[in-house]
Amino acid sequence: MKVLVVKETRAHEKRVAATPDTVKKLVALGCVVAVETGAGASANISDDSYRESGAEVVADIAAVSNADVLLKVQAPDDRDGRNESACLKKGGLLIGMLAPSSEPDRVKAYADRGIVAISLELLPRITRAQSMDVLSSQSNLAGYKAVLDAASVYGRAMPMMMTAAGTVAPAKVFVLGAGVAGLQAIATARRLGAVVSATDVRPVAKEQVESLGAKFVMVESPEAENAETEGGYAREMSAEYQQRQQDLVRATLEKSDIAICTALIPGRRAPTLINAETVRGMKPGAVIVDLAVEQGGNCELSVPGEVADVGGVKIVGYFNVPSRLATDASALYAKNLLNFLTPLIDQESKSLNIDWDDEILQATVLTRDGQVVHPAFSGKAS
Ligand code: NAI
Repeated sequence: MKVLVVKETRAHEKRVAATPDTVKKLVALGCVVAVETGAGASANISDDSYRESGAEVVADIAAVSNADVLLKVQAPDDRDGRNESACLKKGGLLIGMLAPSSEPDRVKAYADRGIVAISLELLPRITRAQSMDVLSSQSNLAGYKAVLDAASVYGRAMPMMMTAAGTVAPAKVFVLGAGVAGLQAIATARRLGAVVSATDVRPVAKEQVESLGAKFVMVESPEAENAETEGGYAREMSAEYQQRQQDLVRATLEKSDIAICTALIPGRRAPTLINAETVRGMKPGAVIVDLAVEQGGNCELSVPGEVADVGGVKIVGYFNVPSRLATDASALYAKNLLNFLTPLIDQESKSLNIDWDDEILQATVLTRDGQVVHPAFSGKAS
């Protein structure tokens, strides 16, 4: 079984889909692993460390054909003659975070090429899939880094300090969205000594927020009872709820120093929680970090890829925040991929042996046998 790992070429992407540790494990499973020269460089992983783990390091991926598996972070780069997915044999597996909702045309292209495209953002949130859950592993790091990014832009200290020269008040941090990233942001802000509050539309988040020592605030409404989908995600709320929520956020942010925005709705634009008026009501020197910026932003004034200054309020909209911790993000992501791939390999024949009816594959396989098979992308979705 030939497994290929290529260098990620998209802007702001420093992660890599395999590490020396996961290469070693793939080799032990009977795989022959090829890694493109420099694939791990921006995550501080050298070509030599891949070689020492048993991989062949290849300078030109055009020389690789008939790979059984292509491991990727983002969708393959098939532009300008690079053609990563052409390295796969017909029926080969392309595994990564393929963003099918934002790039539906590509899904059709994978089917036309006859490859099996598997998008790990679509993994079901079931216990068996937890070790493969790329959204959780990456969001957790993003939540942590968002607080550090806020602290570095904030012109004041985070913890309370009582000194002979006077007392420094602790920073007041408000976390919007208490999922994986939000809960890690709360824990990180608390570790830095901030006083933390948080909000979510899912009432179950209350207990999780409070168990981390933060205060939970939310709009009281019967609508909240149905705010959570069966998959544990948030629904889009009514216009009336959203208005009430913006009012609550405004009142909270007038008294806060830092806002960490993490609210997302799968497959939709991120909800606007902080409008321009709210930003103008914040204290000069306050900081907003908008982790949702690439999904449209939770703050109306966020600028993708930039730190905006609105009357002294800094709005941080960095791209691809997990990639800002590329070494750890790659290590966790590569482990997620290994955990996904391992059950697909037959130990005796050392070849792929896939149960296509398995719930995890049903949820993640986009294309197979030249067809778009995923109901959300085949046009058969109701
Ligand atoms: P996400 O990244 O889709 O959204 C982040 C957070 O934003 C969520 O908590 C969501 O409720 C919140 N949100 C959406 N709209 C909002 C609004 N208008 N105002 C305030 N907050 C809003 O979600 P994430 O972080 O991926 O987690 C979703 C759920 O999945 C959580 O319940 C989490 O505990 C659960 N989960 C379960 C796993 C499992 O294997 N069982 C693994 C990971 C997460």
